[in-house]
Amino acid sequence: MTSGSSSVGTAFITQDLALPPSGRELEAEIRHLKRKLNAVILAHFYQDSEIQEVADFIGDSLQLAQQAARTAADVIVFAGVHFMAETAKILNPARRVLLPDLNAGCSLAESCPPHLFRPFREHYADHLVISYINCSAEIKAMSDVICTSSNADRIIAQVPREQPILFGPDRNLGNYLIRKTGRPMRLWQGFCIVHETFSEQKLLRLKLRHPSAQILAHPECEERVLRHADYIGSTTGLLNYVRESPGREFIIATEPGIIYQMKKACPEKTFIPAPPENSCACNQCPHMRLNTLEKLWLCMKNGAPEISMDEDLRLRALRPLQRMLDLSA
Ligand code: 13P
Ligand code: SF4
Repeated sequence: MTSGSSSVGTAFITQDLALPPSGRELEAEIRHLKRKLNAVILAHFYQDSEIQEVADFIGDSLQLAQQAARTAADVIVFAGVHFMAETAKILNPARRVLLPDLNAGCSLAESCPPHLFRPFREHYADHLVISYINCSAEIKAMSDVICTSSNADRIIAQVPREQPILFGPDRNLGNYLIRKTGRPMRLWQGFCIVHETFSEQKLLRLKLRHPSAQILAHPECEERVLRHADYIGSTTGLLNYVRESPGREFIIATEPGIIYQMKKACPEKTFIPAPPENSCACNQCPHMRLNTLEKLWLCMKNGAPEISMDEDLRLRALRPLQRMLDLSA
């Protein structure tokens, strides 16, 4: 082999394998691209802490939808899962919506396929359909009103008592709302793999070791976990609770990404993730965690992956979403 061919090879390899920036450099690149694109980064609490650090806004599903509806940015970079980015697009079609990893789905949304939900919905044609925002645009388009874990009880309270309700896709949130509001509802039997992973037995053992700790849970958890909770609420609800509580120790039964903001808000308090059934990290949402800081940078650099949607579907999904925003204003 001649030295010439070897140097051509080396140059090719160096160029092809040029490493993406890392650490502070990567964050600086993201901030630069944000200005260049006139972009806003919206992030959910379940994202990695380094993504939360570069976000312009971090919130629960309702707050993220409200932000997406009102932003003046040209580009919405959604650090969350697909149904959240899709919701942003439905509410704000003039903006480009980027999602760092298009495979970032949601087990709950997937547990409600449109071809199965349609006949269910038709069978109960006289029911008002309230759908949890964790569902696809197709399911939203078949719904009368959307809700999130932070406004569901308020929305149900505004439905006349004689009106039967069909609620989907989350059976755990549905059952919790039945208990909380006293309203019977017909439920779709969907669930979140992350929130059904918590072990009641291990939770009780943990509580024995930390008797003064309060248990905080997301309503997507099963009843056997929720019945031990001192407070149940959306991610923002849980965060506000620890901010306002005089308590010093909390067991957190939801995706542990939220603990980053809890520690930031209350560094003097202790937060213990509720234990999953196995010794796995399955209390981490595998969909949310597909997004990384590198993918966030890449999607801003490439302008892709981008959310696109058929306009007829968007308009049908917009109606129940807009209704939710109006009822939550
Ligand atoms: P929040 O609306 O409470 O943030 O919940 C979103 C979610 O996906 C919970 O799993
Ligand atoms: Fe979906 Fe569950 Fe992940 Fe929330 S935690 S995004 S409901 S899979």
